[in-house]
Order: sequence, then C-alpha cells, then structure tokens
Amino acid sequence: MDLPCTVSIIGTGSYVPEKVLTNHDLAKLVETSDEWIHSRTGMRERHIAAADQATSDLASEAATAALADAGIEADELDLLIVATLSPDMFFPSTACFVQEKIGAKNAFCYDLGAACSGFLYALDTAKNQIASGAVKTALVIGAEKMSSFIDWEDRGTCILFGDGAGAAVLQAGGEGRGIMQSAMGSDGSLADLLWTPGGGTRNPISHEMIDQRQHYLKMQGREVFKHAVVRMAEAVTEALGKNGVSSGDIKCFIPHQANIRIIDAIAKRLGIVGRVYTNVEKYANTSSAALAIALDEAARDGTIQKGDLVAMTVFGGGFTWGANVLEWSK
Ligand code: ACO
Repeated sequence: MDLPCTVSIIGTGSYVPEKVLTNHDLAKLVETSDEWIHSRTGMRERHIAAADQATSDLASEAATAALADAGIEADELDLLIVATLSPDMFFPSTACFVQEKIGAKNAFCYDLGAACSGFLYALDTAKNQIASGAVKTALVIGAEKMSSFIDWEDRGTCILFGDGAGAAVLQAGGEGRGIMQSAMGSDGSLADLLWTPGGGTRNPISHEMIDQRQHYLKMQGREVFKHAVVRMAEAVTEALGKNGVSSGDIKCFIPHQANIRIIDAIAKRLGIVGRVYTNVEKYANTSSAALAIALDEAARDGTIQKGDLVAMTVFGGGFTWGANVLEWSK
C-alpha cells in the first residue's frame, strides 16, 4: 500500500571514535595478518571506542551532526529511534540516554533490535510513522560499540568489527519521491549462525556462562557469507520492482559494509559494479551503524546529489535483511 505523504531525509551525520586499530595491531593480539584480513574482507582498520564511551555517546555525536546538517533543534524531534545490538544497558533504552544527552525533550524514544539490519528497519519504521501523520520529525540512529561484545581471543570474529554511529533526520515533504518502499524479511530458523548466546534469559549471566565465553558474539562465517549475498541481492531486486524502477535508474547502491567480497558478489549478481559505495576498508563492520555512516559519507562527499536515486541494502543476525530505494532531495 502506498502511503500518500512523501517523507525525506533532511540531514545526516556520523561519528567514529578517535582510536584506530589496524590489521597490524590485530596481528599482535591474535594469530592473523594484514594480508589475510585484507584479502578476505577488504578491511584495513577500524575505530574502537574509549573505555568511558558507551553506545549512546557515539549515537549522540552522530545525532548532533545530523541535526546540524538538517538545520533543526533537538527539541523539534517527535520520535527518536536507536537501532543497536550493543545497548548501553538492557534497559532503559539507549534511545532514552541519547534523548537526555542531546535535549530531545519532546520526542518519544525506543530502541530497535534487528542486528546489522537495524538502521534500514528503523528508517522504514520512522518513515511510516511520519507518513501516517503520527509524528512530524524523526531522528533515526544506528550505533554500536561492537568492541564490548567481541571475543578478542577469537580471530574468526574479532578482526571483523568496529565501533561507530550514523544518524538521519526525517520529515514529511521534500522534492521528489523521498524514501520509497522497502522490501524486508527475516528467518529466525537460522539465528544460531550469528548470535550472542549468553547473558539474556535463555542463558543468564553466571560465572559458568562467562567462563564458556558465551557472552561474546559467535558466528559461522561461511554460512553467514552465503546467506548475506543471496538475501541482499534478492532484497534489492524486490525493492526496485516494488518502486517501479530498474537497476539502471539507480545512481548509487549502498550495501551493508560487512565484507568487500560480499559486496562484490552482490554487485556482480545485480550488474551494478562501479556504482557501489564502500568504506569497509576504514571502519570494518560497524553493524547497524555501517549503512548510516556510509549514507552520511556518500552525501557529504558528493557521491549522491539532489535528484539521485539511491538503493540501500542490509543483512544481519536473526537473520534479518532488507533493501529500499530513496530519491535524494537535499
Ligand atoms: N587470520 C588468519 N586465519 C584465520 C582467521 C584470521 N583472522 N580467521 C580464520 N582463520 C583461518 C581459519 O581458522 C581456517 O583455518 P583452517 O582451514 O586451518 O581451519 C581458515 O582461516 C579459513 O577459515 P574460514 O572461516 O573458512 O575463512 P573464510 O574464507 O570463510 O573467511 C570470514 C572468514 C572472513 C569471516 C568470512 O567467512 C566472512 O566474511 N563471512 C561473513 C561474515 C560477516 O560478514 N558477518 C557479518 C554479516 S552480518 C553482520 O554484519 C552482523
């Protein structure tokens, strides 16, 4: 169903912490090498938050930049969503901490859990809230301090992730079509291929659970790789079809920044090589922040211009996946 109202992104922002951890640094922690990591993933370095920086701190930096870009004040926000798998605490929501830090006192706030797909899910949720007339202005953030949930003794996962945050401000109106239809899906039967099994109600915190390192992210890398390629390529195709546009109409594709080989495989399947935005080399996989940071960078460096059609796609734990199309109107 097409909702009547156009909803546009009116500002974006992003933030990565100061500390850089290179592949060479990782080779001092676990048995690996710059050559292995770069050839398998495209990553050279990632940013790591300071011990006293929580996810809401990273999110607030990105939010402040997005509000400045949009030219609006925090108290004009009606809705604030933080997509994250690394919240400050189980509760209250990281979004409430961000609200307090940035002064979004008129917004209602909640977190959205869709792992690495969270930013696109949150964008779609906020868009529909605005299109329904329920809210006027929304702030959507993808923010992660992955370094707190990674097993720094597991070379199969610790090389892959980084910390950061990205944000977008949404409002009704704008020239062009704004944020268009999404295609999204999930498959809970494959949850155990990518999860953090300990620390929740299934396997509560205990000395035994921690000794077994169950509170860290676990992943079957090869399986995740295969599903990520298939699902993201399918989601893009479905989203293009839903919006009545063809691949050739899209100026820029922004995929989840998980691995350059996943991105290249999708680009080949879709015939879009040369129109794909990547920054995985600099930041590694920042989960729900990855798409948000890439969108902000693509907007700021002029890769996407007013009137361009942009397609975005994500994949993450759950499994969850999705894609959407938008017309850039800034
Ligand atoms: N350095 C050196 N060797 C390593 C490392 C490392 N960091 N990690 C694993 N190896 C070894 C393994 O032990 C294995 O050795 P063995 O053959 O002696 O057993 C060998 O390298 C091959 O291991 P694989 O895991 O099969 O390597 P693969 O080529 O599949 O690459 C990788 C691993 C990079 C993790 C890949 O599977 C991948 O990128 N998968 C997708 C992961 C991903 O993107 N997840 C997130 C997506 S969703 C989200 O964002 C949450």
